[in-house]
Amino acid sequence: MTKKLFIKTWGCQMNLYDSVRMADVLAPLGYTCVETAEDADLVVLNTCHIREKASEKLFSELGRLRALKDARKARGGGMILAVAGCVAQAEGAEILRRAPFVDAVLGPQSYHRLPEMVARAVRGGGGVLETDLVAEEKFDALPEESSTSGPSAFLTVQEGCDKFCTFCVVPYTRGAEFSRPPADVLREARGLARRGVHEITLLGQNVNAYHAEGAKSTGGGAFGLGDLIRMVAGIEGIERLRYTTSHPRDMDDGLLAAHAEVPELMPFVHLPVQSGSDRVLAAMNRRYSVADYLRAVGRLRAARPGIALSGDFIVGFPGETDADFQDTLDLVREAGYAQAYSFKYSPRPGTPAWALEDQVPDAVKSARLQALQDLLSKQQRAFNAAAVGRTMPVLLEGRGRHPGQLTGRSPYMQAVSLAAEAHRCGDIVDVLIVEALPNSLAGRLTEAPAAVA
Ligand code: 5AD
Ligand code: SF4
Repeated sequence: MTKKLFIKTWGCQMNLYDSVRMADVLAPLGYTCVETAEDADLVVLNTCHIREKASEKLFSELGRLRALKDARKARGGGMILAVAGCVAQAEGAEILRRAPFVDAVLGPQSYHRLPEMVARAVRGGGGVLETDLVAEEKFDALPEESSTSGPSAFLTVQEGCDKFCTFCVVPYTRGAEFSRPPADVLREARGLARRGVHEITLLGQNVNAYHAEGAKSTGGGAFGLGDLIRMVAGIEGIERLRYTTSHPRDMDDGLLAAHAEVPELMPFVHLPVQSGSDRVLAAMNRRYSVADYLRAVGRLRAARPGIALSGDFIVGFPGETDADFQDTLDLVREAGYAQAYSFKYSPRPGTPAWALEDQVPDAVKSARLQALQDLLSKQQRAFNAAAVGRTMPVLLEGRGRHPGQLTGRSPYMQAVSLAAEAHRCGDIVDVLIVEALPNSLAGRLTEAPAAVA
């Protein structure tokens, strides 16, 4: 008998990947995914704790689900409710206390235990909590095949973080840095290729810290992300590779060489800097200077001319002055971004920066965020405008908003829409870019060969 599973996902790509994998571990129990919680037998909320209001969002969603669960019960049915992800990891006991109708709470390293937790919930007996932080066990317990669909997929190769930036919850919610063995990654990537995937994004909280214990790089050093990229690029059918998120300290020679030599590796890199002030970077425990960051960007651009840069920024970190913020704007002008994410600093309980004096008033944070986003969006518009008149290879991923329209991605992660037949989804086609819109490009199919700068 098939049962209905609804998973709601907040947060980063790693959570999206985890949600797909949770669906995989539940499939043998007869669960298939549905689009709404209304008539689901099992609802999983996969939560994110990185910025503010995570638990409020969760509890308001749980309130809504409780009503659905009660209505199901009144009709003689049942609904199992599970909370997963980083809020579950950080606040598991509190969730069971405030929402005793929740059946299972599981942290990011425990979702392979879902079937067992669901079975326990079906038998009854109150909410269960699993918040161990051992990543290895999870990956060992995953089924081989992934149920991902579409030509582009995520593959988690590294989890956790040992960097302890003073604002960040990740080292506490995802645990210590862990890299999956290359053979496991290869097996999963081959499985994706067999399912028609042409583009893989290798994921990790600190993906360029990837290292394989005991394995040697062809160059003789330790086996790192550059080696992994070469390995996955060799799989028949895999035509595009990306990776995210990177730390500026871990941009090593092997990865730079991969950018220079592996044509499948797309000319786009997400390299968060967070701030353009050395003083703030030190207080954040980022362990690089602005000059180090710009050097890393320069090396990337030398390795792969035309590479597009993306970043993350935090404004209003405790003690950030106007002068510090001006330094951030200067850095943006100097580095030049194709796109970026920027956030107001949000104090996360339990992190070192949470307890710092000198918190910046919200109005100041808002004004700085506005100024930064104005500059970043100006750069993004200029980057997109420069694409007009160029021909680029576009991986077609799905239907667009209008009939007969498909959307895809340029090598530089820009969304591109064009008129094309639906059966061409999954193809990489040459597209002449004819218009730059605020957040995307419009183009048309062309016979002229594409050139990637
Ligand atoms: N406040 C604001 N932004 C944060 N980020 C992480 N923690 C915080 C926080 N406490 C941002 C960083 C990171 C991105 C994923 O989220 O910019 O790179
Ligand atoms: Fe968080 Fe990234 Fe810093 Fe790790 S490197 S602590 S994940 S911001």
